[in-house]
Amino acid sequence: MAEVIIVKDQAQAATLAANVFATLIKRKPTAVIGLATGSTPLKVYEALAAQVKAEQIDVSNVRGFALDEYVGLDKNHPESYYSVINNNVTVPVGFTPGLINTPNGDLATIEQAGEVYETLIRSSGGIDVQILGIGTDGHIGFNEPGSSLASRTRIKTLTQQTRQDNARFFDGDLNQVPMHCITQGIGTILDARQILLLAFGENKADAIAAAVEGGVSSFCPASALQLHPHATVILDEAAASKLKLKDYYTYTFDNKPGWQSV
Ligand code: GLP
Repeated sequence: MAEVIIVKDQAQAATLAANVFATLIKRKPTAVIGLATGSTPLKVYEALAAQVKAEQIDVSNVRGFALDEYVGLDKNHPESYYSVINNNVTVPVGFTPGLINTPNGDLATIEQAGEVYETLIRSSGGIDVQILGIGTDGHIGFNEPGSSLASRTRIKTLTQQTRQDNARFFDGDLNQVPMHCITQGIGTILDARQILLLAFGENKADAIAAAVEGGVSSFCPASALQLHPHATVILDEAAASKLKLKDYYTYTFDNKPGWQSV
C-alpha cells in the first residue's frame, strides 16, 4: 500500500512535495520530473519556485514530462496543457522550456504521438519523481475508469464527468471542453521511480478511499499506486475523511494518533 500522510493544509502539502523535488534536483541536476495539471499541484509549483530562488538551485538541466494533453486544442490555447505547464511551472520555476515536454495533441500526428512520447521518456532515462492529482472518478493523468493498468501513452475519450469537472477552465461551457485527450498510461506512470499523489477537499474523499483502501482495479485507476514500491499519498483531512485506517496513517500536526514530524 502507498504511504499516506495527512497534512494540516495545502500549504503544508506544497512544502513537503516541493522539498522532494528540490532535494532530487540538488542531488541530480539532470533530474527527470513528471508534471501534472489541474488545481491540486499549483501550490507545489509555487513552493518549488520559491525554494529554487531562495536556495539558488540550478534547474537549467532538469527535464520534465507532463502527463497529458487535450487532442485537437491549439497548443497556444490558454487551457492547453502545454500552456498551463509553461505558465504555471516552466516560467515561474525557471526550467529550460525546450526540456519540458507535453504530449503532442495535434490531430495531424496523433496516431504516432503516444509512441513518440514513450520513446522520449525512455530516452531521458525515465521519470525520477512524478506528481499526481486525482479525478473525482479516481482517474490519474487522463486514465479514466476502465483504463488498463498496463496502458502506455495513447488517445482516450474523456468521460462526461471529467469534461464537466474541467468545464470551469473553459468559461463553464461544456461544449468547449475537448472530447479526447492523449495521456501517459497507467503503466507509464508506474514506471516513475517515485510517485507523489496529492488530494484536497471532501469531493476527493470517495476517490481516495477507493484508491488507497479499495481493491486494485482498473475501475479506480489511482488504485494502481498500491502496486508501486515508492508511492506517497498526501491528503488534507477532508480528502482523508473516508479512509478506514485513519489512525494508522502519518499526521503532520498535533493531537492525532499517528502524529510524526515529517
Ligand atoms: C485533470 C488532469 C488530472 C488531474 C485532475 C484533477 O483531469 N488531467 O491530471 O489530476 O484534473 O484536477 P484538480 O487537481 O483540479 O482537482
